[in-house]
Amino acid sequence: MQEHYFSPAPSTPSRPDSVRLHLPDLDLTLATDAGVFSGGRVDRGTRILLEHAPMPPRRGPLLDLGCGYGPIALALATRRRRLPVWAVDVNDRALALTRENAADLGNVTVARPEEVPDDLEFAGIYSNPPIRSGKAALHALMQRWLPRLAPEGRAYLVVHKHLGSDSFADWLSASGWPTTRLVSVQGYRVLEVSCSSEVPPSSG
Ligand SMILES: C[S@@+](CC[C@H](N)C(=O)[O-])C[C@H]1O[C@@H](n2cnc3c(N)ncnc32)[C@H](O)[C@@H]1O
Repeated sequence: MQEHYFSPAPSTPSRPDSVRLHLPDLDLTLATDAGVFSGGRVDRGTRILLEHAPMPPRRGPLLDLGCGYGPIALALATRRRRLPVWAVDVNDRALALTRENAADLGNVTVARPEEVPDDLEFAGIYSNPPIRSGKAALHALMQRWLPRLAPEGRAYLVVHKHLGSDSFADWLSASGWPTTRLVSVQGYRVLEVSCSSEVPPSSG
């Protein structure tokens, strides 16, 4: 069976490498490896998310959901050195790489999903989600983490239109998380998801 980047323990032999994450406001060199998502270069969708997703309206802990080797968590934690950033994944090699990449920063916690405290709420959730794990798994992932948005929290998700971004956005809105398209760049949609508990402004 073909191994996926979201296997908990990749059997692909390790091939340590590094990639450069160069954005207008930061320039990071990150350790990568075989057996993690886009280990050879920063994924284009990830780059577009980091170029276009803003900070959420309220200050508070941030979550990189499905961190891989950590480009999103590292960019967030570098931009906001005082904010706690959680980096979560199921792939042990990805978690080890993110830990290594975050070693010089004091504000990143790298964890498996079940290690995140139940009462922790996030002001912002950022993700290039594991679309290839299938629709049911993707929906379950959202149903697990979006309820953990704090009031006025936002999630920023990047999904390519060929991988179903528009029907995914419709599903999110229909499931009680109002979702809008922030930008579309080279087919990648950056979606902004609002907290379901937010009361829309009164029209009166
Ligand atoms: C598309 S990759 C993005 C990786 C990284 N954020 C990046 O931008 O390069 C999605 C990641 O989600 C992880 N993943 C898959 N299922 C997950 C789950 N149930 N909980 C958390 N992470 C998961 C995969 O292991 C993979 O690293």
